[in-house]
Amino acid sequence: MTEGDRKPEYRPGLEGVPAAKSSISYVGIQTNDLGEREGVLEYRSIPIQALAEHSNFVETAFLLIWGRLPTHAELDKFSTEIYSHRRIKYRIKDMMKCFPETGHPMDALQASAAALGLFYSRHTLPNPEYVGQAIIRLLAKIPTMVAAFQLMRKGNDPVMPRDDLDYAANFLYMLTEKEPDPIVAKVMDVCLILHAEHTMNASTFSARVTASTLADPYTVIASSVGTLAGPLHGGANEETLLMLEKIGTVANVRPYVEQCLKLDPKHKFMGFGHRVYKGVKDPRAIILQNLAEQLFQKFGYDPYYDIALELERVLEEYLGGRGIYPNVDYYSGLVYRKMGIPTDLFTPVFAIARVAGWLAHWNEQLQENRIFRPTQIYTGSHQQPYIAIDNRHE
Ligand SMILES: CC(C)(COP(=O)(O)OP(=O)(O)OC[C@H]1O[C@@H](n2cnc3c(N)ncnc32)[C@H](O)[C@@H]1OP(=O)(O)O)[C@@H](O)C(=O)NCCC(=O)NCCS
Repeated sequence: MTEGDRKPEYRPGLEGVPAAKSSISYVGIQTNDLGEREGVLEYRSIPIQALAEHSNFVETAFLLIWGRLPTHAELDKFSTEIYSHRRIKYRIKDMMKCFPETGHPMDALQASAAALGLFYSRHTLPNPEYVGQAIIRLLAKIPTMVAAFQLMRKGNDPVMPRDDLDYAANFLYMLTEKEPDPIVAKVMDVCLILHAEHTMNASTFSARVTASTLADPYTVIASSVGTLAGPLHGGANEETLLMLEKIGTVANVRPYVEQCLKLDPKHKFMGFGHRVYKGVKDPRAIILQNLAEQLFQKFGYDPYYDIALELERVLEEYLGGRGIYPNVDYYSGLVYRKMGIPTDLFTPVFAIARVAGWLAHWNEQLQENRIFRPTQIYTGSHQQPYIAIDNRHE
């Protein structure tokens, strides 16, 4: 028996194990005045509903990162700095031009985010000036890189950011080469607010683990983008739309669900379920459903919405008793589809928003850093002989 044999409690996926103390955001479930259970999400103590209604993404990013709402002067300075750093270096564009156009935009984003670090020399962390500059650069340049890859893979040159457009409108402009309708730009801005932060999820944990080694912030964001890409996390919005596409018609919803559950009673339906919002609908899904309906009213109906509503009804019947309801990814895909955003860009759009939360956690981690070094439960044997290669069996 060695020291490494002590057996701490093992929780797969670290479920329920606190990984940090944080005042950035809160998720939970509360009972409202009508006695109904509902999901709660707060950024720096402010309910997400209030931010979606009154704030904008840049202000929300300031709130998350710096811990309070900015004054007029602070918001002007923060926005101006972000807007003036939206261009990306031609070397980054040249590097992106070499990416295969068939590659996934999340992989392109991860590589480009990491490459940004090559241009901004490393400093000993935490250095407040470097931290502030990195925050501005990452918030400013990530949307430009997502849009640039989209245009380049179509064979077009990326367009320059427009200084007269705000954060969301400029992103849509760089993506589509057209100035967006103000309603579409507003809806995109709210989507960015809704996706900006969500406590200790996988990609945020990834940000904090990488931050804890004092790696540079571009590496921190690149590692988080990689973690967000998986279908159990950010990739679920893309998978949700592919699922609706596969179902194809409202009439096919029930047979599809029955077939999936017959093949695998534990089948995971994309866009449903959440580690925290158990037994309630994700509050962001409620806001997003509303936004989707606003877009349909203005720009025409989407038949996929009927399929989504029917699937929600049928799954309530099959899974509702187990507390599984739509999460943020269920309706976001329909909103983005109506905006004309290609399906494989849904997760990069999520990443653009989540950069704010990751940066807030990076900054918070640096304030009281201790390198992450969990332990493991060793399940192998000990003291085995080394067998010469000629004596090994197939
Ligand atoms: C998000 C997710 C990973 C959370 O998982 P979790 O908290 O670990 O929950 P579990 O995977 O332990 O699931 C708990 C139970 O609900 C079921 N369940 C969870 N999500 C489900 C889904 N989307 N469809 C069907 N059943 C689901 C599980 O099979 C499990 O059932 P059991 O208790 O009978 O074994 C999971 O719900 C999921 O994979 N959802 C689909 C992907 C998705 O939409 N991700 C985006 C999250 S914002």
